[in-house]
Amino acid sequence: MRLDMAILAWSETYSVGSAMIDSDHQILINLINQLHDATETGQSRDVVGSVINVLAEYVVHHFHREELLMAQIGYPERAQHSQTHRDLEQRVRDIRDRWMAGERHVLDDDVMTFLKIWLTDHILRADIAYRPWIEAAADAHGGADSGGGACNI
Ligand SMILES: [Fe+2]
Repeated sequence: MRLDMAILAWSETYSVGSAMIDSDHQILINLINQLHDATETGQSRDVVGSVINVLAEYVVHHFHREELLMAQIGYPERAQHSQTHRDLEQRVRDIRDRWMAGERHVLDDDVMTFLKIWLTDHILRADIAYRPWIEAAADAHGGADSGGGACNI
């Protein structure tokens, strides 16, 4: 399979145990798919630019939310994890800025592949690692929430 041609799809295997973060990850996957569609169908610089701009902003918003969560659940690797976020934010901002400056080749297949691998790899390997801390926090709060079993972290 050529990953650069593939449309990403969220599945339960990507779940980190938090409905909020899972929903963010689905939004990010949708945005990357939209970016894929916009470049594949040769949309204008402004249209592609607005999708990548939303992606860049949502990435920052999501990482901030995830970092608050990691602090809340006492995840010990959060400093290193947050540093990965800074690197990824910078990379996406750089792609956006270069695109807006007229570098059309900046969204070539290699970059789209990078975005897809980055997202799946980060979720599957880095984000999944804090799942046990989410579950422990949910257990500690078990029964206190009106919802019972569902963790609202
Ligand atoms: Fe993360």
